[in-house]
Amino acid sequence: MGDIAPATMLAESLVKSLGCPAHSPLDRAAELKGLRSQTSPFEREALYALGRYAYSGAGDIWDIGCAGGGSSYCLAAGVADGEAAEKAGRVVCFDRFDGHAKKAFTSLAEEADDLAIFHRQTAPVAAIVKPVRLDLLKDLASFPAPRGVEIAHIDAAKSLALWKAIFAKLAANIIPGRTVWIWQDFNRARLPFQAYALPLLLEHGEIIGGAKDCTPFLRFREEIAPATVRKIAADAFTLEERIANVRATFAMLDRDFSELFARRETLSRDLAEASVAYCHLIAGDFDGAVRAYEAVGAAFRARKASRIYERELHGGEAERRRVLGE
Ligand SMILES: C[S@@+](CC[C@H](N)C(=O)[O-])C[C@H]1O[C@@H](n2cnc3c(N)ncnc32)[C@H](O)[C@@H]1O
Repeated sequence: MGDIAPATMLAESLVKSLGCPAHSPLDRAAELKGLRSQTSPFEREALYALGRYAYSGAGDIWDIGCAGGGSSYCLAAGVADGEAAEKAGRVVCFDRFDGHAKKAFTSLAEEADDLAIFHRQTAPVAAIVKPVRLDLLKDLASFPAPRGVEIAHIDAAKSLALWKAIFAKLAANIIPGRTVWIWQDFNRARLPFQAYALPLLLEHGEIIGGAKDCTPFLRFREEIAPATVRKIAADAFTLEERIANVRATFAMLDRDFSELFARRETLSRDLAEASVAYCHLIAGDFDGAVRAYEAVGAAFRARKASRIYERELHGGEAERRRVLGE
């Protein structure tokens, strides 16, 4: 693996935190690019770097919402090339495997089901990955984590109910000084839960950079205070707290980690204000949600990816329930 990729895919902040090379090996970079995954090429290389340079083997790696195993492959390939002594079965990959991958990755649709797609994509790292079919909402709480979770790729927190279930489990399995959480949904204004929880978690850890696609990584210095765990797991925030925390989070990211947002055509300010609109929606303040969204920049609102916001924010109680996952 002597050759290196010509373009820098990794964020400078992550390279500095991990003390790793700025470029992935050329053959790995090509492999990661060719995967069927809903992660971006930037995210794939950052996952690889974490598996290779951050993972010590003290705990397990959890790929939460692995779909067809694309993200699992990136993490496991990093582990394969890294120094951790124990590698077998250490990347635990959770999903319902109930059709998401078959629908998303049509070129692999001839496979029998999502689990078959997972096995096909991860075949070269089969000894390292361990797929687990479960419903995160019902079954994650009782899933054993005897070694703790050293790296968590959070790619299934697509409703408040899912975020609460995932957060509660991960919060109970932190390895001080080691655990890193990968926050996949920061570019989704409709999922503001992580953005308004982050200021509380920063009391126990720090952002170590992330992937250049609005994906920050948080490393824990210590366990989360029990009162904070209870507050986040119960989503016990006032509307004012949610709004203040969302704005504080995006202002901090804009100030200290703007490279993570550089590829987007919009600024993190728009994401922040669109997220504020969703804080109103979650609180049942439907008029406030629509009004707050009007303050978001026109270019952001005109994007194809923003169409869902227009629809949901005008949708009242039914859309609120969808975001909550009820
Ligand atoms: C955005 S996709 C993950 C993409 C994947 N990481 C990749 O590399 O392509 C989110 C995944 O979360 C899974 N998911 C959503 N709700 C779930 C639940 N309640 N239990 C288990 N998996 C769930 C979906 O099946 C889906 O595969």
